Amino acid sequence: MQPENLQIDNPIVNLFSQKKNGLGAVPLILAPMAGVTDLPFRNLAHHYGAALTVSEMVASQAMIRETPQSLKIAANPENMGLNAVQIAGSDPEVMAQAAKMNVALGARIIDINMGCPVKKIVKNGAGSALLRDEELIGRILSEVIASVDVPVTIKIRLGWDEDNLNSVSVARLGESLGVSCVTVHGRTKAQMYRGVADWDAIGRVKSSVSIPVIGNGDITTPQLAKEMLERSGVDGIMVGRGSYGKPWIFKQILEFLTTGEDNFTPDIMELEQLVTNHFKSMIQFYGELIGNRMARKHLAWYTKGMVGGAQFRKEINQSPDPEATLAKTLAFFRSQRQLRAA
Ligand SMILES: Cc1cc2nc3c(=O)[nH]c(=O)nc-3n(C[C@H](O)[C@H](O)[C@H](O)COP(=O)(O)O)c2cc1C
Repeated sequence: MQPENLQIDNPIVNLFSQKKNGLGAVPLILAPMAGVTDLPFRNLAHHYGAALTVSEMVASQAMIRETPQSLKIAANPENMGLNAVQIAGSDPEVMAQAAKMNVALGARIIDINMGCPVKKIVKNGAGSALLRDEELIGRILSEVIASVDVPVTIKIRLGWDEDNLNSVSVARLGESLGVSCVTVHGRTKAQMYRGVADWDAIGRVKSSVSIPVIGNGDITTPQLAKEMLERSGVDGIMVGRGSYGKPWIFKQILEFLTTGEDNFTPDIMELEQLVTNHFKSMIQFYGELIGNRMARKHLAWYTKGMVGGAQFRKEINQSPDPEATLAKTLAFFRSQRQLRAA
């Protein structure tokens, strides 16, 4: 690591100086979500004000084998906004190598997954399994930080379960080893996604370290974002599921935090444009077959709660190619416009 370089253009330092620079709101961050936060979605989140986006987790082993899927996940083109690439794994050397490769491919921040509760990740000792082994966390952080000259951040949960809450200790360990920022999802591994995120517990991590802390869990409205900020005092807010079918949530939150107004929602014409552009960018990114399939969940989220939405979702799930899906999408939005004009 070269500390001098970190001083000159440190994206984490820049990110958290926004508020001090008078821009008003804390930075908003798009959460890493496997199967969701691909390049097209991250671009949309940036467009609507996310100051940082995080890639889907990329398995370090797959990364060093340069599998096509891992290279796609870690895609980090220069012309997009600030993006972190998140690596998962449990072998310090492999993770350091994966981090290095990502930096060579343009990553400006490396995030380490220490929170994923999914069985296939945990059984390999990665994700939230790391929270049970602080000694291993120490070795991973030392190796990864020593191997790259960009900031390294971590994303953790409150602990393995109610009896093993060690987020404060992991955050302090990270800070002592040179981690630049810690994101805390306010649940334990045992909770998976059940119950509610504990924002007070996130606040306890915030008051235990000097590095920036990002709060995460259950932010679905601007009002909840403000409440989390007030309860926990975090330096940034990360939004995951609240952005499903609603990538403009970042703009909504920013406006609410800076002006107290909550009235930004795209009208039906803007939404049609957004949805069709998103669909086309997915086809371009993944190719026709996979893009058409991957886009279905986004189309379903965008049209949730709309009249005729259930029928539309049924139709696109059977739609064999992008042309057919696009035609059905345009027809659906035409009917929405007619409904609203009536
Ligand atoms: C579909 C899905 C995929 C996720 N994938 C990842 C991941 O790759 N890496 C990670 O650190 N967290 C992952 N998470 C967790 C989210 O980043 C976030 O911590 C969690 O959803 C809580 O935030 P939210 O309530 O705003 O959604 C995932 C969550 C979901 C729902």
